Amino acid sequence: MSDGTPNWFDADIDHVIVSEEQIRSKIEELAKQVSADYGHVEEVLLVGVLKGAVMFMADFARALGRYGPPAEMEFMAVSSYGQGTTSSGVVRILKDLDRDIANRHVVVIEDIVDSGLTLSWLMKYLESRDPASLEVVALLRKPDAVKVHVPVKYVGFDIPNEFVVGYGLDYAERYREMPYVGVLKPEVYSR
Ligand code: PRP
Repeated sequence: MSDGTPNWFDADIDHVIVSEEQIRSKIEELAKQVSADYGHVEEVLLVGVLKGAVMFMADFARALGRYGPPAEMEFMAVSSYGQGTTSSGVVRILKDLDRDIANRHVVVIEDIVDSGLTLSWLMKYLESRDPASLEVVALLRKPDAVKVHVPVKYVGFDIPNEFVVGYGLDYAERYREMPYVGVLKPEVYSR
C-alpha cells in the first residue's frame, strides 16, 4: 500500500515476520470465525489491551463489523514490570474498564501472547467480574516463550521467539505504527 517512498522504519528491520497482506487476510479470517461462533448473541464486548492492541483492535473491529454481531469496545491498559524486552508477570492497571462487564460476552483483543503472564493475570481479573463468556483473540503468539499456559481460542500467527516490533508492538515506544511485524537489526539496540 506504499507509494514507493521509503519509510523511516524499513531500514531498521532485519526481516519481516508477518507482512501487511498476511495480517489483513488473517484478520478477515479471525473475524469470520468469531462472527460464526457468536452468531447467537446480541452483541460482543471487545476489550482491547493498550497500547499494543491498538492497531489490531481497530482492524479487527472493522472486520467484525462486516459480519456481526454488533460490537462494543472497551480498553484496558496494563503494564507488566519487565526488564527491557521481557516481562515479569507482576501486572499493574494503568487504565481500568469504564463499565461493568457482568453478563457480557467479552472478547479480549491482544496483540501478542509472549510469556502469557499478562494475559493469565488479565483473564483472572476479568473472570472475577462475571462475564457471560470470556475468550481471547491474539494476533501473535510465541509458543517457545510460554511461561504460563492460557487458553487462547483464536490465534493469528505462531511466531518464533524473537523480539518483534510493528503493528502496535514497540521497542522503546517506537515502531508501533509499522503496518507489518518484523525483527529489528541488531545495531538498533546499540544506538
Ligand atoms: C505487551 C503486549 C502484551 C504483553 C505480552 O505489552 O502488548 O500485552 O506484553 O507479554 P507477556 O505474554 O510476556 O505477558 P507491554 O507490557 O509491552 O505494553 P504495551 O502494549 O503498552 O507496549
